[in-house]
Parts: sequence; C-alpha cells; structure tokens
Amino acid sequence: MVLFINAYLFTMKNLLLSFFLFFISVALFSQNPIIIPGTIEDSNINLTLQNGTFQFFSGEDTATMGANGPLLDPTLILNQGDNYNVNITNDLGQDTTIHWHGLHVSAANDGGPHTVINPGATWNPQFTVLDKAGLHWYHPHLHMQTDKHVSKGIAGLIIVRDTEEATLGLPMNYGVDEFPMVLQTKGFDASGQILVHTDLDTSVMVNGTVNAQVDFPAQVVRLRVLNGSSQRVMEFGFSDNRSFSLIGTDGGLLTAPVNLTRYRISSGQRADILVDLSSDLGQNIQIMSFASELPNAIYGATQPGMGAGATASLPDYPNNPLNGTDFQLLDINVVAQTAAPVLSIPSTLASWTAIPESAADITRTLTFTSAGAMGNLNGPFLINGATFDMETINYTIPLGNTEIWTLTNQTPIAHPFHIHDVQFFILDINGTPPPAELQGFNDVVLVPGGNGVVRFIAQFSDHANDSIPYMYHCHMLPHEDMGMMGQFLVIDPAAAVTVNNHFDLEVYPNPTSSGLVTLRSNEYKGIVQVFSTTGQQIETFTINPNQTKELRLQSGIYILQDESGNCERVIVL
Ligand code: C2O
Ligand code: CU
Ligand code: CU
Repeated sequence: MVLFINAYLFTMKNLLLSFFLFFISVALFSQNPIIIPGTIEDSNINLTLQNGTFQFFSGEDTATMGANGPLLDPTLILNQGDNYNVNITNDLGQDTTIHWHGLHVSAANDGGPHTVINPGATWNPQFTVLDKAGLHWYHPHLHMQTDKHVSKGIAGLIIVRDTEEATLGLPMNYGVDEFPMVLQTKGFDASGQILVHTDLDTSVMVNGTVNAQVDFPAQVVRLRVLNGSSQRVMEFGFSDNRSFSLIGTDGGLLTAPVNLTRYRISSGQRADILVDLSSDLGQNIQIMSFASELPNAIYGATQPGMGAGATASLPDYPNNPLNGTDFQLLDINVVAQTAAPVLSIPSTLASWTAIPESAADITRTLTFTSAGAMGNLNGPFLINGATFDMETINYTIPLGNTEIWTLTNQTPIAHPFHIHDVQFFILDINGTPPPAELQGFNDVVLVPGGNGVVRFIAQFSDHANDSIPYMYHCHMLPHEDMGMMGQFLVIDPAAAVTVNNHFDLEVYPNPTSSGLVTLRSNEYKGIVQVFSTTGQQIETFTINPNQTKELRLQSGIYILQDESGNCERVIVL
C-alpha cells in the first residue's frame, strides 16, 4: 500500500496518469467482493458470445464481451473420458473463434484461427476429454483480434476431473474450498473503455473484480489460478511470505506437491495451489504479485528488456506504476471452517513418468527475433525469420512423433511460448534442468530474453488431420496478433487417398523431407494438378510418358490429380 501511495505522489505531475492512478487508489480503499464465475457441468454445453456492459469502477460503464453474460465465461467442469457436445453462438457482430487452451482435442475442434465463427453462426465442436485432471481455459483466437476479444472479457476456466484425482482428498467444492482465480491486468482509456495492445495495463483484477476481496474458510483451500493477462507476468505469493503447495501446472497434477513462497506465472499459464489456512481464523492476508522481484527482461519487471534503450522502446511502460512494484491481487479474510473441511495436504499426487530425452525422433529449432529496430520490445517478432501466414504450414509432423523443440530467444524480452495439441516436458532452461515446479505438464513456457534457450519434449500421438493445423505462438497477445505464431499439421503418413487411386505417376520420395519431389509418368499423357488439402490449386502442368517433373513444395500435404480424377497424396515434412 505504501508503494502505491509513493507511486501516486511521484507521478502526480502527469495528469493522464493520475487519472489512472486515481482508480487504483480508490480501489485500494474500497474492496469489492470477488465474482465467482458460474459453472456448466453438463455434457451439452451452450455458450453465447455477447457484447455487454460492465462496471469495473462504480458508476463507469465499460463496453465488454463475455460468454453467457457481459464479462468472462462460465467455468466448465468436465470429466476425463466423457463426451461433450458444445454449441457456441456468436452474437458479437464480428468474426471470432473459441480455442480450448490446453485441452488435447482434434485440430477441427481446437478452435484456432482457421475455425472462424461468423456473426450469428453457431459452431458445434464435439469431443471426448482425453486429458488428465487439470486446469485449462477457453478464449477467442481470431488472427490479429485475439487481444481485443480476450481483453474485452472473453476468457473462462476449464476444470478437468479424473478418477485418480478423486482419490487424493483434495478440495473439490467449487466456490467453497476450491476457488477460480483469473488474474488479469487491463488498461482503460479516459472514458473507461478497455484498451487493446496497450502497455498501460494499470488495473489489476481477479475474475473481473478490481480490488477483489474474498472470505476463505480456515482449512486447506485450493486456488485454480490462470494468468489471463494480455502480457503481464505475475510473481504469485502471500503478503506474509507463507509457503503454499503447488500441486499442478498447466496440464495437470504434479507427482508430489512442491512447497514454494513464490510462483512465476506468465500469460496463458495456470497453477493449481493449496494453501493451509487452518490456523489463521480471523486473519487478513493478501495474495500479491511480487513484481519487484521479477528479474529484468520480463514484462512486469522494472526493465521489460535488456540492453540500452530497452525501456524507451515501450513508451508507456515507465508510466505504468505496476511495473517492478509489488501489488495486491486478492484480499482474504479467513472465516469459519466449512462442514467436512480438508485439513491436510497429500504427500503424493498423480502418477506418470516424463518422456525421456532419448525418445525423441527429431529436434526442431525455433529462433525468435525482432523484426523492428534492435532493442524493440513491442515487436513485431518473428519465429525463424517469418511472420505468421495463414496459408503457410510451418511443420508437418508425422503421427506418433516424439519431438524436442529448441526455442532460442534472440530478442531482449522474455516470451511465454505456447503450443496447441500437446503438453510438453521442459528438458532445460538455459542449459539447466527445470526446478521441481516446472517438471510437470506444461503448454506455456517463459523463454528468457537475451539469448535464452528452452528445450522441451512432446509426443504427437493422435488427432491427424491433413488440412487443419494447430498453432504455436507467443502468449503475449499483442505479439501473437502481430504474427509471432506458426502452425503445424499432424498427419498420418499411412493414410490412403480415397479417390480412384489408379494414379499412373510415380512420386518419390514420398514423404519428402527436402521439399523436393520427383514425378515420373509411365504411360500417362495429360494435365496434372497439384492441390492443397483445402482444395486450393497450387500448380498445374502437362506430362508425357517416360517424362519426369520436379516439384518444389513447402511443408504440408498435397493431392496430385490426373485428368480422370486419380489421386496421389504427397507428404512434405
Ligand atoms: Cu491460449 Cu493459441 O492460445
Ligand atoms: Cu492453446
Ligand atoms: Cu512474445
């Protein structure tokens, strides 16, 4: 609190800023009861995406977006092994998508930028939950519009339960001893409207509640935490520096609790946390982000980048009082125990073994660079020298592959890298094996700035699709929107082409890993067309008997077709 007041006085000279800080200081003295999003626990899930109005600050109407309400989405509580039928109706008046971040669903159901829900349309994904017990989330993913739709309010939690978790005696009573915590910072303009692609995210909220207050019972309480901020990294901890137990990360439970006093959580990441409040009846404690402890070159630290000019290249950054300053996320009053309270923390959790490094079939190298001037922290950022292109498949991954991805960050700021479809195991960060809290299932990893290197391993075990890709990208949403993203197909090399397979041309090598394939006609004379799997014609040429033709193709799956409609499927890895 003292730090806030100092920051307030220090920046009084800046009128615009004092306007923002006014909200922060008002919020400091007026606690708001936390909003607990409602739940849907049914195999039929109906969601309506809608525009709305919400008062983050009393008396000020802000235009928002939500699912089944003006802000945020209901929490979905799903069971492993169950089938779900989802209807998502888009009443936003503009295109969007809904992506199941962290869930292992097919590419067609994944809700990436290719699966657009037009205004007025209803999208009907259907899937079986294959994931273990864990915490995921769902949010829009329209290319170049993700930050707008998420910042305006569409974001919701997905809690997956399984039979193993049910035996552990964990708090599982939503809103009673298990609490959702969607951590976000947002920026507001002078008329109280939400800013997009902003570095002035000066307002802190939990579940859409600014200056949130909650009553927790004096027992073991479970926090299901998501950092749903567009950019800001949080350093989670308690005001009295008490230790808490991290029991799960992005993709599920750890094998045993890890006792921590801080947990760093970047955009898109989740944390499953137990805190023992059994001897704290009547106490008042805060959950904080200890941002003063964040090392530099992380969004939220004093210096967001490394090197000369690193701050100057984010013009609004030094004017945001949250950067490098400890701030409150949630104010807790500890109240009477519930009936049948959980009073102990299990010593072991889920059982699984990590994928060993020796299992890898291939290593891919992804290098992050800045497209702009040296030291630019706003991007645009590139992956392997390229910006995202909806029509380019960056990788074609054979079904069953186990892969190591080496992420090298040549930019001055850390990037939280996210991949769809799989959970990965971190092999090392800057050459060092990860600490216990990062040894579980993850789908986001913060890659340190200034030549930081992270290696992870993952298996692509099912859900082949020749035409719909999965995404990988930076989860700082302005970076993603500006093209720090790529896409991959998971394909089944053995899958047959179904159309009249009497193709006279020989195609070799197939699959090819060089991008080059040779076609040779035995007796066929005529036109050959090359199609992408979305039906787009890539090339057309004529071939004669005994003639060869070389084709150079980018990664992906192609269909070669002769004049009679006979086809051959070509795999370019
Ligand atoms: Cu949370 Cu591709 O996103
Ligand atoms: Cu995702
Ligand atoms: Cu980034």
